[in-house]
Amino acid sequence: MSQNSLPKLSLFPLTTEVDNRGHLYIGGYDSVELVREYGTPLYVFDEFTLRSKCREFQAEFTKRYPETLIIYASKAFLNRALALIFKEEGLGLDVVSGGELSVAQSVGFPPNKVYFHGNNKTTDELKLALNWRVSRIVVDNFYELDLVNRLAEEMEIVQNILLRLTPGVDPHTHRHTTTGILDSKFGFPLTTGQADIAVAQAMSASNLNLLGFHFHLGSPIPEVSPYQLAIDLALRFAKEMKGKRDFHLEELSPGGGFAVKYTLDSSTPSIANYAEAIVSKLISTADELRLAYPQLIVEPGRAIVGQAGVALYTAGTIKEIPRIRNYVCVDGGIGDNVRPAFYEARYEALVANKVSEKESTKVTIAGRYCESGDILVRDVALSPVLPGDIIAIPVSGAYSIPMANNYNMVPKPAIVMVRDGKAHPIRRRESYQDLMSLDVI
Ligand SMILES: Cc1ncc(COP(=O)(O)O)c(C=O)c1O
Repeated sequence: MSQNSLPKLSLFPLTTEVDNRGHLYIGGYDSVELVREYGTPLYVFDEFTLRSKCREFQAEFTKRYPETLIIYASKAFLNRALALIFKEEGLGLDVVSGGELSVAQSVGFPPNKVYFHGNNKTTDELKLALNWRVSRIVVDNFYELDLVNRLAEEMEIVQNILLRLTPGVDPHTHRHTTTGILDSKFGFPLTTGQADIAVAQAMSASNLNLLGFHFHLGSPIPEVSPYQLAIDLALRFAKEMKGKRDFHLEELSPGGGFAVKYTLDSSTPSIANYAEAIVSKLISTADELRLAYPQLIVEPGRAIVGQAGVALYTAGTIKEIPRIRNYVCVDGGIGDNVRPAFYEARYEALVANKVSEKESTKVTIAGRYCESGDILVRDVALSPVLPGDIIAIPVSGAYSIPMANNYNMVPKPAIVMVRDGKAHPIRRRESYQDLMSLDVI
């Protein structure tokens, strides 16, 4: 392998290398070979990076605050292979649907580490969760408070719950992913008095055991101060509830939302920075208020899978509009990654079979779907691209695959896991037959 100092490579998985032909290697496997074997679009996950991030979260939090449980937010991307890895790494799981719950069940994930979230869980989903004896239901609203209590009563069980609070803190991220402000569909607002009423109702419910509070401010949150502000508000509320209702906070979750570096011009706190900010604020405020230290539940999604994933595409049409823009069109787009269209998300890219060549051209990488908004990366410097070249987009592990769709009846990509020079598929490419398999005529 040659030493390649291209700064973009730092965004790729931790095992990334370049050989002397200029081929990008991930997990010891040549990306050009991967494309030959599995086709494109192809999502590649690096097992080493995935496991390293799990361990980094666990180490950074537990060395500061031993009573921490890291639960992976499945919505960032879950399938059975990943669920097995998280199980092996000893993480818990945050699920938001019967589907995510079933994946966890299918690999024997321990239910006592599963938290069930969501603002409109269905009765069937709640029954599934209660039957499986999940660790906590994170109750989001009054309707659900009543529903969970009734279902637990019918099943003659007492269910442990957390209440999701809306602390009214702006995390300064995209409005589509801002969740902790007052005008949000999620949670019990603190400032309106509804959180107070929810505590009273939960404590008097016959079949619920209220253990604590959860909040999730949004995602990705590029600063640590919103977490600190919200922890302060949540603990002061817990103190108020202790005096008013004899409520004892046993568990607190500041949610997830930890940012990752998608582009070279962005800066994000490290996992250690987030851990330090959250834990120091939790300890200092609990001390000030004379509250016992609660169990801390941390819910990273993106920060665990983001960097581990790389999207590989094949370049096809190249359209040059003199003095305006050069488009390189690839065989994927908003069907496998809606984030640029949905959230104005930005990415970097490189030509995976020409990493050593000078990046002398500026291009816009467009998808193959029938929408002008189907642009993956705008104005990125690349080595000269020809049809057939492989375009690699780093930090593609989170919220691409789980939001994938079949727009234009395009099958969803294959996914492979790489490790120590070996590759194995963790999801096969969809076929045209798959696309029609649910149709009835
Ligand atoms: C309740 C909850 N927890 C955790 C997360 C994970 O966020 P991220 O993937 O940014 O860490 C989300 C994301 O929306 C969420 O809604």
